[in-house]
Formats: sequence, C-alpha cells, structure tokens
Amino acid sequence: MKALVLGASGQIGALCVQDLVEMCKVDVIASSRSLERTKKAIKDLKVDPNKVTTMELDAKDLKKLDQVMKKEKPDCVANCAWYQTNLGVMEVAVKNGVHYTDLGGFFDTCLKQIEQNKKWIDAGVNATVGLGSTPGMTNVAGGAGAKKLDKVDTIDLYCSWGNTLPVKEAGWPGYSIRTVIDEFTQNPIMWIGSKHQKQPILSGEKEVIMPDPIGKVKSYYIKHSEPATMGKNLRAKNVTFRIGFPETDLNTFKTLVQLGFASAKALKAGTGEVSPIDYLTAMYQNAILAGRETPPDEPFEYDMFRIDCFGEKSGTPSTVTYFIETWNDPKRNASSARDTAVPPAIVSWWQGVKKIKEPGVYPAEVTVDPYPFFKELGRRGIKVTEHFDVVTKFF
Ligand SMILES: NC(=O)c1ccc[n+]([C@@H]2O[C@H](COP(=O)([O-])OP(=O)(O)OC[C@H]3O[C@@H](n4cnc5c(N)ncnc54)[C@H](OP(=O)(O)O)[C@@H]3O)[C@@H](O)[C@H]2O)c1
Repeated sequence: MKALVLGASGQIGALCVQDLVEMCKVDVIASSRSLERTKKAIKDLKVDPNKVTTMELDAKDLKKLDQVMKKEKPDCVANCAWYQTNLGVMEVAVKNGVHYTDLGGFFDTCLKQIEQNKKWIDAGVNATVGLGSTPGMTNVAGGAGAKKLDKVDTIDLYCSWGNTLPVKEAGWPGYSIRTVIDEFTQNPIMWIGSKHQKQPILSGEKEVIMPDPIGKVKSYYIKHSEPATMGKNLRAKNVTFRIGFPETDLNTFKTLVQLGFASAKALKAGTGEVSPIDYLTAMYQNAILAGRETPPDEPFEYDMFRIDCFGEKSGTPSTVTYFIETWNDPKRNASSARDTAVPPAIVSWWQGVKKIKEPGVYPAEVTVDPYPFFKELGRRGIKVTEHFDVVTKFF
C-alpha cells in the first residue's frame, strides 16, 4: 500500500514517514513545500530512501494535489501540515476516493471537517480526523474509558512534558509554534453541562498528578478539539482539556505573545519586511531541522498524558484513568513528539488494509479500536496503562 504524507519536513510529518516505513511497512510519498527540507528530515531520521519518494507539494495547491493523487493513486493521505490546510486537502481526497487523516483541526476546523460527513459517506471513503497525541491518543483512551463504564459523567484530559536536563532549559514545543501561539491567544472552549462553553485564556487552573518525573503540575484550559467532539460522541456531560506546562515553557510562550510574535502583520526589520509569526515559524523550523542533526545518546525528554473518565458501573461511582508516557527514542533519533506522529501512521496503515473502513468523517474516539491501538503504541515504546477504580458500597 502507498501513503501520501503532507508536511513531511515538519517535526511530526518526518516522524510519521519514519513510522509508516519502518513499523507499518508502507511505501510513502513524503512531501512539503520544500523538497530540500523534506529530504534533509528523512535523511537525518535514517529512513530507507528506497521506501520513500520525496516531492515538493504545497497542500494549498489543490490542483497539483489532485494531479498527484490521480497519478500516484495513494490509498491514504496523512496530512501533517498546519491545520489550516485540512479542509482543502479533504476536498481533493474525497474526490479521488483516498482515505484521510490529520493531526487535528483546533476546535473550529475540526467541527467544519465533521460537517463534511455526508459527502464522505456517499463516496464510501473514511476520514479519521485529529489523530495525534492530543487530540488523538487521548480521544481513543476517553472512548475506551467510556465503554468500560455504564454511564459517563466527566472526562478530564491533561497533557504535560519536560526534560531531565540539569539546567531547566526551555525545550522547544513538541508541536508547531504557530499552534502554541494560537493556544495562548484564543479562548478555550470546554464541554460543560452538555454544551460548549467559552472560557478565559489560561483559566481553569488545577493541580494534577502526572506520571514521574513530572509529579504535581499546575494545568490550564487550552483551546483544543477534544472537547469539540468527545462530549456528544461519548455521551459525557463534561469534557475538559488542560495543559500542565513546564514553568520555563509557560513563561517563554507568554513572553513571545507579549512581545507581539502572534502578529501576522508584516513589520519592517533590517533590510526586509516579515510578519513576527512568520519569522518565529522560520526560526522554529530551522531549530527542529538542526536538532535532528545531533542525536542524543539517551532518553532525556518526555510527553505525558492523563485521561480521567468519571461515571458509574453497576450502580456505583467508578473511575477509569489512563496514563500515556513517551520518552525520546535515541536508537531511532525520534523525539518524544513521535507520540503525535505514530497515531496518524497507524491509522493510515489501518485505512489502507481496511481495518478502518467506515465511510464518513469521524474523530478518533469513534473509529479507532482502543486495545489493538494501545498495543501498537506499546510496540513503539509508547506506554499506555489503564487503572479501573470501582467503589464498593457496604450499605
Ligand atoms: N494532535 C496533536 O497531538 C498535535 C501535536 C502536535 C502538532 N499538532 C498539529 O500538527 C500540525 C503540524 O505540527 P508540527 O509540530 O509538525 O509543525 P511543524 O514542525 O511546523 O511542521 C509543519 C510542516 O508543515 C509544512 N507545511 C506548512 N504549510 C504547508 C503547506 N501548505 N503544504 C505542505 N506543507 C506545509 C511545513 O513545511 P514546509 O515549510 O517545508 O512546507 C512544516 O514543516 C500543526 O497544525 C499542529 O498544531 C497536533
């Protein structure tokens, strides 16, 4: 089978190509707007060049994308470019009968994608959207927890990360700096009391215990697509999403926003004009590429997730909690951000071999079978544990 990966030069896209080739044994066309950046990313990750065709392809150039799909006939497309490309790419994919997955639509885009459901059902093609770590693995875990309970009341999701460097250096974020800036400038929307409710930026402060070495961390509401879909699909009254930022990163991101790096308005600087957000993005992309050139010798950075599902089982209050832990994998020069790249790789592969085949557009909690998925994660050293706590009443 053959998969087309868009945004393959990126932090996640390159790792998705690596997983598709090495773990899923799928042939890949790896593309981004820069052939040079894509080639470098694939080479630095030591992916077998015989298994990958590279090409320059702008995901916004729908005419060229259409031509590529017609010529190359991929079974599926994993869109790892920025989420602003999701709707356009889907339009071309459904027209060509190509299955689709992506890394998330940041709430509003995700809902617009799901509105396309009928078109996909009519075409008999599957789109499973929002398939990274979170959204993605956390949706699947929430779905698994909901199935274990007779009744779900609340699902609380948490994400955190960090490193063991002796000096608490701010690591760069495990996801696009553009999305980080969106998260710090757009109001989060949570599913509370069975409806979407807008919250203040960085509100909902709550201390949560995450797996070691994080331990207790302050977490905050962040705009994400999990509360956009999980409440309705899993019949929960409340679904919240919080990030527990390492303190250094929280301060860095706040400072970037205060300095005006969120602005898309071109600014005269030195000999040229460029918008602060585009400049920041270019610096981030260079840092990601340079970071892959010197592989670390040992695990030193990690991503952690916690999913609490509260409800009832056999008439008593019960809680199902999932912890998901990922460290960087020095053997494959893969950062902990691989936990965002592996899920779209697995789902693309499963679409290609018809393990996922429901026509329509769905988020991960609907189409992804949790336990086989968790086992695939485990095969890559991404550790999922399930903790089922049932209260026994003696009255
Ligand atoms: N669900 C999750 O858990 C999760 C986690 C992390 C990230 N994400 C989302 O995933 C997306 C990618 O994140 P990332 O960390 O990999 O960001 P990134 O490192 O900035 O990579 C995105 C890549 O997309 C490429 N790209 C941008 N526009 C494109 C276009 N029009 N056509 C083709 N390629 C294009 C860029 O490469 P060129 O400049 O070379 O084209 C860039 O390398 C973001 O939207 C992010 O929010 C989701």
